[in-house]
Amino acid sequence: MSSLFLPVALSFLARSVLANPVPLVTGTALPPNIAQQAGGGLSNQPGGPPKLSQNGIDSFHLANFLENLESNFFQEGLMNYTQWGSGNQVNGVPNMGVVSRIAAQEEVHVASIVGLLQGNGAQPVAPCEYNFPVTDEKSFLALASIITNVGIGALIDLEAGLSTTDAGLEATVGSILPVESRHDAFFRIYAKEVPNPTTFETRISALWAFNLALDFIVPNSCKNLPPSITGLQIFPDLGIIGYGGPSFATPNSPGKLIFQVGQPNMLPQGWNSRPLYMAWVNQNDVPAYTPVTVQGNELHADVHPGMFGIAFAALTNQNTATNINDLTKATLAGPLPIPLGPGQ
Ligand SMILES: *[C@@H]1O[C@H](CO)[C@@H](O)[C@H](O)[C@H]1NC(C)=O
Repeated sequence: MSSLFLPVALSFLARSVLANPVPLVTGTALPPNIAQQAGGGLSNQPGGPPKLSQNGIDSFHLANFLENLESNFFQEGLMNYTQWGSGNQVNGVPNMGVVSRIAAQEEVHVASIVGLLQGNGAQPVAPCEYNFPVTDEKSFLALASIITNVGIGALIDLEAGLSTTDAGLEATVGSILPVESRHDAFFRIYAKEVPNPTTFETRISALWAFNLALDFIVPNSCKNLPPSITGLQIFPDLGIIGYGGPSFATPNSPGKLIFQVGQPNMLPQGWNSRPLYMAWVNQNDVPAYTPVTVQGNELHADVHPGMFGIAFAALTNQNTATNINDLTKATLAGPLPIPLGPGQ
């Protein structure tokens, strides 16, 4: 079995116009019944929300931005179930019921972050308009897995940042993370993949998460974003145009991918005056690098062996960065999430 499945290439997907963006909660008041639907509402906090540092506020602004996207995605998907019917079943439970619970949980996550920001005198981040390349239940749940893994990677980064400035909030973020992983286990079981593909979840950087979110945001649809978000660097997209796997691809020999940069004019001057590499980020491992050969506008690179779950690839012209933050500074294009098979 091929160890790669690539049903959802994020960057080059058509952007059909979203007819009716779903309104999201923008205050701390939650719609009635949401706590019941989610399995719990806002946490009660005697003495009000904890005090945030400036780094904490900036970090939760980005978390708000990302969770808005996730919440909107699941609410829109839930609405789509009215056309899809109650969906297929995992363990005899119709998928629509699980998605309804996920949507409610994401809504409570958003409302919790909004409450935290407001309790610190900071403006919450308003939702943007989104555009998701979903055509049916199957592609919805496949994209759900990718979006959830981006969220997981960003939440680990949020925890890491808070550990130096707002350590009291680490455990709060830690209480959200496994909920997201439970969601992903469900998406994976539905796709007949193992629910627990990896030993560790994969951390990404805030800037990478921001760039991944942009793939689903209607241009110029975000209003009043805080400067900590508008100031973030935008990388050109990295997309996959072909998979040249060996006929018996395994995790140890997973094959070759052909990449393309979506907007080559956004690449910095002199980007290819040094050797190019594809950087691979997976679990807690230091970034791995495979050489890139350029053929016209195609970038050919081997997939780094021994990765599981979802890996993140980025184009770079160095192979010495040993952590996600240094790699983010040296990113030329991407990142791109790449789902890998279970290796069985
Ligand atoms: C919902 O369905 C519409 C119409 O098919 C589609 O364009 C949109 O991407 C879907 N969104 C989600 C999140 O499923």
